[in-house]
Amino acid sequence: MFSVLLLLLVSPALAWIPIEDWESGNVTASEGDSGQCLCHVYLPDTTFPADRVEHMQQISKDMIIEVEIQMNKLVSYEAKLEVYLKDLSQLTLRVNMLESSTNKYIKLDFELLRIELREFEALVSQLKESLNVSSPLFDSLYTEIQNMTMIVNQLESYDKSNLEVIRIEFAKLQKKLEDCQQDQNFKPDMGNCNGTGIMSLSKPHVIQLNAHLSGSYVAGGWAKDSKPLRGYESMYVYGAHSTTRIYDFYLYSNYDKLILRTEFKRITCQIAWIGLGNNFAVRGHSIYYQRNTNEMCKNNVTTDRYDYRVISEASGSFSYAYYSNQFLDFAGDENGLWVMYASDTSKGKIIVAKLDEKAFGVENKWTTDVYKQLAGNAFMACGVMYATRSVDLTTEEIFYSLDTKTGEERHFSIPFQKFQEKYSYLDYNPTDQKLYMYNNGYYVSYNVKFN
Ligand SMILES: *[C@@H]1O[C@H](CO)[C@@H](O)[C@H](O)[C@H]1NC(C)=O
Ligand SMILES: *[C@@H]1O[C@H](CO)[C@@H](O)[C@H](O)[C@H]1NC(C)=O
Ligand SMILES: *[C@@H]1O[C@H](CO)[C@@H](O)[C@H](O)[C@H]1NC(C)=O
Ligand SMILES: *[C@@H]1O[C@H](CO)[C@@H](O)[C@H](O)[C@H]1NC(C)=O
Ligand SMILES: *[C@@H]1O[C@H](CO)[C@@H](O)[C@H](O)[C@H]1NC(C)=O
Repeated sequence: MFSVLLLLLVSPALAWIPIEDWESGNVTASEGDSGQCLCHVYLPDTTFPADRVEHMQQISKDMIIEVEIQMNKLVSYEAKLEVYLKDLSQLTLRVNMLESSTNKYIKLDFELLRIELREFEALVSQLKESLNVSSPLFDSLYTEIQNMTMIVNQLESYDKSNLEVIRIEFAKLQKKLEDCQQDQNFKPDMGNCNGTGIMSLSKPHVIQLNAHLSGSYVAGGWAKDSKPLRGYESMYVYGAHSTTRIYDFYLYSNYDKLILRTEFKRITCQIAWIGLGNNFAVRGHSIYYQRNTNEMCKNNVTTDRYDYRVISEASGSFSYAYYSNQFLDFAGDENGLWVMYASDTSKGKIIVAKLDEKAFGVENKWTTDVYKQLAGNAFMACGVMYATRSVDLTTEEIFYSLDTKTGEERHFSIPFQKFQEKYSYLDYNPTDQKLYMYNNGYYVSYNVKFN
């Protein structure tokens, strides 16, 4: 009985999809863990509710089994059921006729369909009572019917469509999907920066102690690539030590490997390339980190080649509040790669510099109003620099922002919980809109909510 119901709901819905909505539906591509191309198709709400129907089909399968088991209890409803089933089969016939109709304009009797849906609604609730079971399946089916009623109401307001045109549009969409699967110009999913800034942070999600399982490895960080190469979207990078020096980086192909501490690659910095200060960033499959006081280093993970540039004005007098030697803080966001530092000229206030990734040089810079030594850390999101500071042992706050697009500065308070007092690393990742914190040796993350 329920599978018949599904059939009914599917068929007319297909016939009423307004063409404009197929065209405005959009398709994005990303890549799955094993390198396969995933296509995400977003369709506007009022189009054919394929996901709900699929969900309903699963429910209906389960329902059929349950209904069979409970059949014995149905004695009192037998008569009613017979009537309903007869109506159902008539409705099926009508819908089938509509579907196979070659008429350009299809007239649909929405009022009748609404009445029938209402009757199914009543039937389901009666069945539910008679079976005397509290079943999530029933609840779910009930909701689906209500939703379908809503969709029917919405669809009614559209101009009745021409089936042939819909078929052509459908074929176009399928073609789009195929093209998308073959598209080599892969772009990872980025959030959009249409909002006005960060609104709040979630509670800290404490993942686990670092991969060295060492409580003394407090100076370090963990990160994801802010502009991953195809196939490396799930990669995590970790590097830490008990001192603020950087000796090696561990690369994990995905989250599970990070948790299991089984890296696919370990980069041990050649002696001349040992780093300092832990505020590294991973972008475009390269790791950017500080060497000595004011040298920006880059390890190209693909080639294992090193390169460096000097930021002569970056001062070795100003570190963040919690750890020493943090002179260059790298960050990647939707808009690019950045480095933050303080100089004597800026009198210890943080300077934000946009880096040209190809040339590996400073492209532009802004001076903020934040004394670096008073800040816990800083990060970039959507081209906006955010600075944090301590409120108390368990609370931190984002208290300042500078929008590099407009030059606008803001002072405010977005408090967030800390797992432990001190942290040596804080960076945002645009691919998942999370903040990554290395909190006294623990991997901690926060979901970022934008306005
Ligand atoms: C793509 O889908 C999103 C979410 O539904 C929507 O906000 C956006 O306007 C769509 N874009 C186009 C080009 O239709
Ligand atoms: C329904 O089940 C409850 C317990 O689950 C029972 O107390 C009640 O008598 C049942 N009602 C009928 C009509 O079978
Ligand atoms: C029915 O629609 C409501 C509101 O649009 C939605 O919250 C709910 O998840 C839908 N139910 C199902 C089972 O799809
Ligand atoms: C963001 O804004 C741009 C330009 O205003 C617009 O084209 C785009 O669709 C918006 N994106 C989303 C997801 O709202
Ligand atoms: C890393 O090296 C590869 C191979 O030479 C090159 O294509 C890529 O652009 C380099 N990446 C960066 C960020 O320099």
